[in-house]
Amino acid sequence: MDRTSVIVPEAELRRQRDYVEKLSRLHAGRQPLALVDTFGCQQNVADSQRIMGMLRDMGCGFTDDPNRADIVVLNTCAIRENAEKRVYGALGQLKHAKEARPEQILCLCGCMAQQKTVAEKVRKSYRHVDLVFGPQALWKFPELLYGVYTQRRRIFSIDDEPGAIAEGLPVVRESSVKAWVSVMYGCNNFCSYCIVPYVRGRERSREPADILAEVEGLVREGYKEITLLGQNVNSYGKDLAAPMDFADLLGEIDRIPGDYLIRFMTSHPKDATDKLFATMARCGHVAKQLHLPVQSGNSRVLRAMNRGYTREQYLEKVERARSLMPDLVLTSDIIIGFPGETEAEAMDTVSLVEQVGYDALFTFIYSPRPGTPAAKLPDPASREEKQRWFDRLLEAQNAISARRHQSYVGRTLRVLVDGESGDLRWPLQSRTAGGRLVHLAGEKSLIGQYVNARIVDSNTWALFGEAE
Ligand code: 5AD
Ligand code: SF4
Repeated sequence: MDRTSVIVPEAELRRQRDYVEKLSRLHAGRQPLALVDTFGCQQNVADSQRIMGMLRDMGCGFTDDPNRADIVVLNTCAIRENAEKRVYGALGQLKHAKEARPEQILCLCGCMAQQKTVAEKVRKSYRHVDLVFGPQALWKFPELLYGVYTQRRRIFSIDDEPGAIAEGLPVVRESSVKAWVSVMYGCNNFCSYCIVPYVRGRERSREPADILAEVEGLVREGYKEITLLGQNVNSYGKDLAAPMDFADLLGEIDRIPGDYLIRFMTSHPKDATDKLFATMARCGHVAKQLHLPVQSGNSRVLRAMNRGYTREQYLEKVERARSLMPDLVLTSDIIIGFPGETEAEAMDTVSLVEQVGYDALFTFIYSPRPGTPAAKLPDPASREEKQRWFDRLLEAQNAISARRHQSYVGRTLRVLVDGESGDLRWPLQSRTAGGRLVHLAGEKSLIGQYVNARIVDSNTWALFGEAE
């Protein structure tokens, strides 16, 4: 890929900053309020923080109340039908707010917005939406918003662009302890069920120097937990002029001095190498935690999903990773009910889950995504049948999680206190280095700090501890 074509030139970014300037002049005299509502994954959370950064620089304050907002942005997710339904529900409700405040500007962005069918539906049936733009156009938000303000017309920016890298966008981080850092965008894998490659464009990696500078800045500001993001971080660097891989990047980041942890997601098993595991094991700042989505425990289904590995190959990788990191915390994503999956195949997934003994799982029932190859496959199993398989999977995992959590009781672990829980007995929330949730008894003043926690109890979902 031609690198110069994916990096947004400085002159373009300057033009966008000029629009921010113009908008802040338009806003002069009265501070407008913005509401940014985020659906879906961490990448969307990170994107919303950029959108909020741009809005802040335009002079906006923020609100949670759609009836007070001058600008509403819905950052949407297209991964499953349910996610889309929630967005349409939110759009329906926002109609009332807009009727009461006709000058309100309603923006729809993110993965749903990039789909032509959705854009058409919004154009025709959700006429109160003023601006629609896909993830590829995020950096042009100031120009697009300025267009809506000055031309008082609806704007749709959803061209099929391969996607770009825009550096130096402003950002509002929601925490002073944890931060997200995208290392790459897009996905080239085309798993047969997945809409992501169609809406987020081709894989493109940020320059290592830009990533290192961002992480260094965050560590200097006191951030303690930095999560590197990408649809498939393990293919990081393949498109760089001076190729380097994700393990090299982790090694470079690890050299930044300070008291912080690096996490990352998501890893594709086919690209998770011994070198990656060895680097994780060696690097003191890198959490011994791996989210390694398996999706299915049956090799025929894995082939139909276009995942690029078999059950056996996956299990081998897990074994290698654990041999290098005995305390590794391992989590996964699973899809039950892929078109044509039989009960026996679904039970292969349950048996894989039991064999691996994950710390936690993110489980989904297959949802057909229009335009993906899997959506065209015959899908004879009924929803009720899939639900039964799904319940068996959950039951198996709940027992494993409870058992694994039980084994922490009596140990003392270093945890990062990241907020309040609202529970009187365990007023704090914290995470172990492996990313497990610990409800903690202790003083509020510990928020943002590492403490030693004695684990006194556990259940299926969390640990309970006392700060020492
Ligand atoms: N249906 C159900 N789950 C899906 N995922 C991706 N696409 C679909 C789909 N069409 C799940 C995968 C992925 C996670 C982010 O969402 O498990 O890893
Ligand atoms: Fe979707 Fe597969 Fe890419 Fe993940 S790796 S975003 S599941 S296509």
